[in-house]
Amino acid sequence: MSKSLSILCIGAGYVGGPTMAMIARHCPEHRVTVVDIDAARIRAWQSDVLPIYEPGLKEVVQASLGRNLFFSTDIAGGIAQADIIFVSVSTPTKLFGEGAGRAADLQYWERTAREILTHATKDVVVVEKSTLPVRTAEAMERILRAGRPGIHFEVVSNPEFLAEGTAVHDLLSPDRVLIGGHDTAAGRQAVAAIADLYAHWVPRDRILTTSLWSSELSKLAANAFLAQRISSINSLSALCERTEADITEVARAIGMDRRIGPRFLNASVGFGGSCFRKDILNLVYLCEHYGLHEVAAYWEQVVRMNDYQEDRFVHRMITAMFNTIAGKRIAVFGFAFKADTGDTRESPAIRVCERLAQERAQLVVTDPQALDNARQELAARQVPAEFEADPCEAARGAHAIAVLTEWAEYEKLDYRRIFADMTKPAFLFDGRNRLNHPELHAIGFNVYPIGKPPLTHL
Ligand code: NAD
Ligand code: UDX
Repeated sequence: MSKSLSILCIGAGYVGGPTMAMIARHCPEHRVTVVDIDAARIRAWQSDVLPIYEPGLKEVVQASLGRNLFFSTDIAGGIAQADIIFVSVSTPTKLFGEGAGRAADLQYWERTAREILTHATKDVVVVEKSTLPVRTAEAMERILRAGRPGIHFEVVSNPEFLAEGTAVHDLLSPDRVLIGGHDTAAGRQAVAAIADLYAHWVPRDRILTTSLWSSELSKLAANAFLAQRISSINSLSALCERTEADITEVARAIGMDRRIGPRFLNASVGFGGSCFRKDILNLVYLCEHYGLHEVAAYWEQVVRMNDYQEDRFVHRMITAMFNTIAGKRIAVFGFAFKADTGDTRESPAIRVCERLAQERAQLVVTDPQALDNARQELAARQVPAEFEADPCEAARGAHAIAVLTEWAEYEKLDYRRIFADMTKPAFLFDGRNRLNHPELHAIGFNVYPIGKPPLTHL
């Protein structure tokens, strides 16, 4: 068994919590502590009700909690003890000053670097877990080397590729673990130390080591490629709606080409989540910074196409419902940015609800896990809405249902009963193409899928 290490993670969010719980579970000889400035979040990690909804996560946390996994607000104390510090704080899009709306806001990141500098008591490996612009490690090293002679700080990059809703599976069986470091003796040693942690459960051939800069860039590149696939299929869904081609058939036909592959080709109301938009805009900003304007414009189009898709969805609702939705009750089925999470950050539901409210529709939002977050998102934008946990109740008296999240339970609802309670003609707009459209049409709904001809009775 290897030497016992003190591992710290700064930032107990969607990444820090699950990642460290997995490390603690598979590395029982190491002590893993996760710290955060948010005391309520830390208390929630220590409780029976975790601060995030993620299938299977509670079991993983509870397997190690209090044994070798600890959550705390003592950031200074944690740093003083640590041999390895993962930094997993938020890196949102900057909303002010230079680069506003595009660049990454690195204020939380830099604050963390200064805290490490102040409180470290021994040599430490600092691991970039947050998604960062390329060459951020250089800035971190400059800060860390500024004031503590005698202590060596080695910075490595270890970006996280988990997706929400499948985080436990993704951490347990990752396609790859990426670790980037400097090609120096200390750099190689630090990379090896991080690789050894993951090797407790990840096969060595899936642990990839690269230069620091390649590692930082690969994270942005992976998200840009994934989002680009969605924008590509969504762009074609618009053409399908004009030509009576069917986007599901097109996706299947192209996805069977092994060079393209079948995954991540589901046309939708648009991609959401805290990562895609912010990371692409960050990439765009970086390209602009380096004078690569054509490259920047290329990637920016992925985000524009997503905005277009969300707006197109609302436009289709309005035109289908006789060009006015003022005063009409619309049941929004799903507010989370995808199924199996309560996360609503950058959810397409936000923009769709905003637009529907501008048209003076009466919104009733339902979601099995995201109602609290939905309430906050809409209140922050002064969008009036009702919130209802039961989808059948939400649809009662409604003129239309808009399915915005692909929750499996929406496939099992009694749509005959729902239809009976709705105002007629009743509309259903499926922003995820998961429901049985011919069946809904047979019940009496006017069904508008994404990228397929509508099935109407009008
Ligand atoms: P999050 O907002 O859920 O968590 C970040 C946490 O950091 C918050 O709890 C916040 O209170 C804490 N924090 C901020 N400043 C701090 C400080 N100075 N000291 C201590 N704690 C501090 O964010 P997240 O979704 O976990 O994302 C974290 C990073 O991981 C981001 O860079 C993101 O891009 C990246 N990432 C996220 C995902 C994802 O699915 N959410 C996936 C891969 C990578
Ligand atoms: C993404 C990346 O997948 C993950 O590797 C990275 O670490 C963080 O960002 P996440 O945002 O959690 O993960 O979920 P993801 O499954 O990628 O879905 C993102 C959005 O795209 C969701 O709104 C989802 O509904 C949408 N999507 C996904 C589609 O519209 N169509 C698809 O085919 C796939």
